[in-house]
Amino acid sequence: MARRTVTCTINGSKREYSVDVRSSLSDMLRGQGGLDSIKHGCDVGECGACTVLIDGQPFNSCIYLAIWAEGKTILTLEGLTDKKGAISDIQQAFIDEGAVQCGFCTPGFIMASVPIITREEPASRDEIRKQVAGNLCRCTGYDKIINAIEKTQHKRIEEKKQK
Ligand code: FES
Ligand code: FES
Repeated sequence: MARRTVTCTINGSKREYSVDVRSSLSDMLRGQGGLDSIKHGCDVGECGACTVLIDGQPFNSCIYLAIWAEGKTILTLEGLTDKKGAISDIQQAFIDEGAVQCGFCTPGFIMASVPIITREEPASRDEIRKQVAGNLCRCTGYDKIINAIEKTQHKRIEEKKQK
């Protein structure tokens, strides 16, 4: 089976892996990178549980070939914690709003929400819903998830104003 070396930046660190050319990015990140936040839900691009950011944009890593990650910058949920491992504001908001039950979908929802919570202007609830439309949750109902994203976005905008 053909293999290729992939060099990319993952959560701020340069990484190099030898991968089967047929491997998915989710397999590389979980299997070789040990990044367990990435979940295998459907493995066909329908549930969003494997969402990561690639060059700042959310992608379903189960349907993204590992070899396409050559030279790219990848962010996973692990990359949102600070150097001491403290969780980020968006993770805390999911806890505070009761947006986590089994937690299987949570990393994917949080990564899909990053473009919204890093925006300068507030997003409407409809915009937030659209942003995470590719992510499925079987436990919480979606309102609490939308609340957590909205709350984090408003908090960050307020913090920026005070600087
Ligand atoms: S596991 Fe990738 S979209 Fe479901
Ligand atoms: S919290 Fe269980 S699937 Fe979303």
